[in-house]
Amino acid sequence: MFSEQLRGRAEALVDRYPQKRSALLPLLHLVQHADGHISEDGIAECAELLELTKAEVGAVATFYTMYKRGEMGRHLVSVCTSFSCAVRGGAEVYDRLKAKLGLAQNETSADGSITLEHAECLGNCEGAPLVTVDYLNYECQSVADAEALVDAILAGETLPPPTRGPVPPGIREASYRLAGLGPVEDADGPIARAAAKAEGHHGGPTPAATAPSGPGWVAPEVIPTFSEAEVAEREAAKAAVRAAGLDPEDVAGAGGPSAREFPSRDPDFEAQEPGTAPGEKPGRSAAGIPGAGAAPEDDPRTEEQVEAEGDEESTDG
Ligand code: FES
Repeated sequence: MFSEQLRGRAEALVDRYPQKRSALLPLLHLVQHADGHISEDGIAECAELLELTKAEVGAVATFYTMYKRGEMGRHLVSVCTSFSCAVRGGAEVYDRLKAKLGLAQNETSADGSITLEHAECLGNCEGAPLVTVDYLNYECQSVADAEALVDAILAGETLPPPTRGPVPPGIREASYRLAGLGPVEDADGPIARAAAKAEGHHGGPTPAATAPSGPGWVAPEVIPTFSEAEVAEREAAKAAVRAAGLDPEDVAGAGGPSAREFPSRDPDFEAQEPGTAPGEKPGRSAAGIPGAGAAPEDDPRTEEQVEAEGDEESTDG
């Protein structure tokens, strides 16, 4: 269940998408941030925010293994046991951690510090065998390395830095970032400003963004900010579409699903058709190959004639 502040964050997430339902995966991560798992209340709140049924939300939440139905511990430790990791000792690592912690798949230690899982390929096969903590990668882990990692968690010590990225912050904090909201501590950054805007706090002084934090982490600016003129331009485009009796959601270029938010600011930008080189006009080449080049504008032949001549040339050849 979202707090008042998280509700504002959730609404800001929904506002990022032309179709509300597209925000479901980020919202489920936000539920995990708030509740430590995918709770029934969280499912109901996602359904209400996105105008979906609880069954639709539940179907998605149970499809992806990253969404946990049981309460997670402070850290989620995942051991990859797919092929590349298995042949380099991943199964032994997992078996050792299971025995050490007395846990089975997706179970949490009694002190609430670790949830353990084995995972399918985590996409870092060159670092096999791979262990992740809160989805941060520790590559080439021996059984002893993985045990030391778990010992540090159990002792409440600061974890060693992963192969790249910040020190694992805890699965709830990681879930906040996975929701697309940046690091939790970025309370005055662009994400928070967008959320404040969604909450209706317009017009005040814009707080300065905090510096990115965490070793190796550079927070991306993921919320575009638009000038008042740009917003007015977009609203005018939508109004024109509505005046024509159409729904802007259905019209590309007017806020619809396939619309770019705004055209490129590059004055030389030209939309490029699939199958053509940059700058090339879409059309049919003299060889009759779609997209291979434009037909000369003064060529009096029809497309059928060009195609027939192309066929003849290839038969002659
Ligand atoms: S098989 Fe383990 S990361 Fe791909």
